[in-house]
Amino acid sequence: MTDGGVVTQEVRGRAALITINRPEKRNALDRQVRAAFLDAVAAARENDVVRAIVVTGAGDKAFIAGADIGEFEGRTAVEQWRVMTSATIFDAVERCPKPVIAAVNGFCLGGGMELALACDLRIASLAARFGQPEVNLGIIPGGGGTQRLPRIVGLGAALKLILTGDLIGAEEALRLGLVEEVAEPAALLDRALALAETIASKSPVAVAAAKEATRAALSLPLDDGLKLETALFQVCFASDDRAEGVRAFLEKRAAQFTGK
Ligand code: COA
Repeated sequence: MTDGGVVTQEVRGRAALITINRPEKRNALDRQVRAAFLDAVAAARENDVVRAIVVTGAGDKAFIAGADIGEFEGRTAVEQWRVMTSATIFDAVERCPKPVIAAVNGFCLGGGMELALACDLRIASLAARFGQPEVNLGIIPGGGGTQRLPRIVGLGAALKLILTGDLIGAEEALRLGLVEEVAEPAALLDRALALAETIASKSPVAVAAAKEATRAALSLPLDDGLKLETALFQVCFASDDRAEGVRAFLEKRAAQFTGK
């Protein structure tokens, strides 16, 4: 486990738990947090023990309260453009072949909400509050919010959140399909890790292919998406994991997947 930094990382079973650790600033994303988060995702991606990733925020107040607003002060538009076009935390989780689960434990705002949107699954504590409050600052979401939010909750619900900056609670987020599950605050992390462990017990080859194919459904025309699905199916079909999965079923035992 790494500790003491603005992002901590530990391996729990077959999941990497990445925690944004800046609770005194409601885990706001400054340059240091972004860099440490990218390192943590890269480490989890490279670690063969890890088959799924859970992201959460330290403390009981916030998942992430957005970009560090202090950094906007005095920054030129060109400097901000460079920040937004260099390797981003949003792309890092979306493109990671291992599924990433957001365990949202409190305020989930702005860039924090956008990080949750880029994750594959979202579980919210009943105390979580979600919002895209950028309009209050004279800006718009810049971490993919205007694109990913409507794809997840539909255009009307996305526009309501983005145009008003209003916050919503966990139950409303569940109703909108913004989160897949809600949990009592004390049970949140265990539930997220249990979900990660369920995924970890499957074939890593199949899980990575399923993530890529299913995500492509939101950006590819149907014919192209179906072709991608067929190509990725073939990758799985040629894998040791497919041979093991089929053999284990026929022998009535649990499969031992190796990711090969
Ligand atoms: N950027 C920088 N600092 C932030 C921050 C952010 N996004 N969110 C919170 N903080 C800081 C506060 O400035 C405060 O610092 P201080 O103790 O040095 O004064 C500390 O975190 C605690 O915040 P506070 O507002 O006192 O806590 P709260 O529990 O009353 O309210 C929030 C929490 C998240 C509702 C409130 O801080 C907030 O609205 N933050 C901004 C959210 C936002 O607009 N995000 C989008 C950015 S694009």
